[in-house]
Amino acid sequence: MTTPTKYLLDESQMPKSWYNIQADLPCALPPVLHPGTLQPMGPDDLAPLFPMELILQEVSTEREIDIPEPVRDIYKLWRPAPLYRAHRLEKVLGTPAKIFYKYEGVSPAGSHKPNTAIPQAFYNQQAGVKRLTTETGAGQWGSSLAFAGSLFDLEVLVFQVRVSYDQKPYRRAVMETYGARCVASPSNETAYGRSVLAQRPEHPGSLGIAISEAVELAVQREDTKYALGSVLNHVLLHQTIIGLEAMEQLHMADVWPDVVVGCTGGGSNFAGIAFPFIGHGLRGGPKPRIVAVEPAACPSLTRGKYAYDFGDTGHLTPLTKMHTLGSSFTPPGFHAGGLRYHGMAPLVSHVKELGLLEALAYTQGECFAAGVTFARAEGIVPAPEANHAVKGAIEEALRCKREGRSETILFNLCGHGHFDMASYQKYFAGELKDEQYDEKELAMALAGLPSVPEPA
Ligand SMILES: Cc1ncc(COP(=O)(O)O)c(C=O)c1O
Repeated sequence: MTTPTKYLLDESQMPKSWYNIQADLPCALPPVLHPGTLQPMGPDDLAPLFPMELILQEVSTEREIDIPEPVRDIYKLWRPAPLYRAHRLEKVLGTPAKIFYKYEGVSPAGSHKPNTAIPQAFYNQQAGVKRLTTETGAGQWGSSLAFAGSLFDLEVLVFQVRVSYDQKPYRRAVMETYGARCVASPSNETAYGRSVLAQRPEHPGSLGIAISEAVELAVQREDTKYALGSVLNHVLLHQTIIGLEAMEQLHMADVWPDVVVGCTGGGSNFAGIAFPFIGHGLRGGPKPRIVAVEPAACPSLTRGKYAYDFGDTGHLTPLTKMHTLGSSFTPPGFHAGGLRYHGMAPLVSHVKELGLLEALAYTQGECFAAGVTFARAEGIVPAPEANHAVKGAIEEALRCKREGRSETILFNLCGHGHFDMASYQKYFAGELKDEQYDEKELAMALAGLPSVPEPA
């Protein structure tokens, strides 16, 4: 092989700012609404939940936002992250396409999540916050915030979705190693958790419920704030370092992608790789196709409604306009816990409404098969969430083979699956079912969407 396999940037080449797509969008994001008054919220309304620096990032329309020096210093523990050319996967697939993947599993927690956990912990510490509460699905986000909390001397309390808590005991051990406390959600620690358990003691939990628990505790204490691992504008902003680095690395390889692929749970790793390319296109550069891949069992982008909805099941959060399956929707307990969320990031939803991305849904069986093909060719065992992006990229590569086109495909391998081996074992034992969500439950959840008057 004459062309390189790895494209590495020096620490000094790490981006100094994040990219804010809000600067380049042809029309602005619909406003966030107060859950009580249904009126647009101002920065002060969000202050009980987040420090002001993060709130200002949430509403900023500046194109570039500086990465603080202490955050860049910590990023250097694993960033810049490598970009790989998947020579061996290309060979196995027999495709003329060039496949590149950005690997975020090199972070201490094993995924892209520390890219936002570090700045969130930093801004909270700067604001004098002592304790953070949060939710976690896969455990990747909980581990990342636990790690960030240990660096910035913050107490961290994580509500882990019950089904993931049971599937992945070692993720909890990682959170505890970093000094955080992790409880299964729904829990008896909050009024909302108790109310859910009273109705259904064996409830498998959902990200929407875990968010309600974390928010309930955050608003009760002055020294406590809430941290979210996806969905919000500032989280997506922090993740754009992925795409910004990838752009530099693709320059080194002297290519530009025809297709960019990412998996979507709340939308953050997808936005991280895709938004810099979309923005470049909006400013007159080439416009690659942008493909979002989601699980068929929780298909917010492909089956959800674009409507105002709550970010949580207990209706404690503000209302945002997004693709949603309804906040009462509980997805089946499939093995990509990070993708079991009823909504999609408002920015990703807005970008979809603007026709700037395509969305596809695949079953977990198809995605595990793709992940195994990838692992056997490239050596990295992907997280079950990342398998969705792998599947999307493989499908694009096979299309190129059918059409005889040597396109360049870039995808985000957002995390490794080293804590997910029980799900791989089940896959090999033929025990992984492609569980369907309940159509009646979806219809009910959508019928229960809050009615919000269209702004004049
Ligand atoms: C490895 C991994 N990928 C993807 C996701 C989905 O989140 P997002 O869509 O915000 O990237 C998660 C969430 O926990 C995750 O752990």
